[in-house]
Amino acid sequence: MDLEIDGRLADLTFDEERQAALEVVRAAASGCLDCPLGAIGTQTVFGAGPVTARLMFIGEAPGGQEDKAGRPFIGPAGKLFDEALEAAGIDRSAVYVTNTVKHRPWIAGPTGRQKNRAPKQSEINACRQWLLRELALVQPSVVACLGAKAAQAVLGKAFRLTDQRGTWVQSEAAPHVLATLHPSYVLIQPEESRERVRNLFFDDIRIAGDRYRHLGEVEAAAAVL
Ligand code: URA
Repeated sequence: MDLEIDGRLADLTFDEERQAALEVVRAAASGCLDCPLGAIGTQTVFGAGPVTARLMFIGEAPGGQEDKAGRPFIGPAGKLFDEALEAAGIDRSAVYVTNTVKHRPWIAGPTGRQKNRAPKQSEINACRQWLLRELALVQPSVVACLGAKAAQAVLGKAFRLTDQRGTWVQSEAAPHVLATLHPSYVLIQPEESRERVRNLFFDDIRIAGDRYRHLGEVEAAAAVL
């Protein structure tokens, strides 16, 4: 991968080099046709956030609004995600937010309208290269997976969200990985269970935020020794 920018590579700090590398990966992903989704989407929805982020959120796949805007989690699920971040005291601009699959999976509904669908395993596999590069460059200390697809993409197919939601797992992706519910799942709950499920989701995001802050304090204390 050639990271030279106008011959200035030698002047870049380590973090600037990582940011430049992330931009190279973003550009490469934008033309990806390794699965059929690349040909039917408006654009690639790559991750967003600083390469220096210590906390990464990984969702499933972009929906209609994300496909149009080219940014992850800006539609209805994104609004709920933002509320959970705010309740947990997490500044979205300081964290990295991405998806397991970078193009919107959709099918034509009966009226011809595009309807979101879950990504197929073959699509997740084809897109894995981009997620792995994001993880390798950002190197978050904490990863929160939103939903079972993201959790299994990061922690393996044996991971069971129903049994292991909200528990910390050490993995190659990051030393602290937690999986929680997908915000879209919260939104489709019937009235009687919505608040309970919403609380589970909010609690897990708060737990992720607490761990991220705690590790940040430990790192800062170690830096002054
Ligand atoms: N759902 C996701 O998983 N990701 C998005 O970006 C939006 C909705």
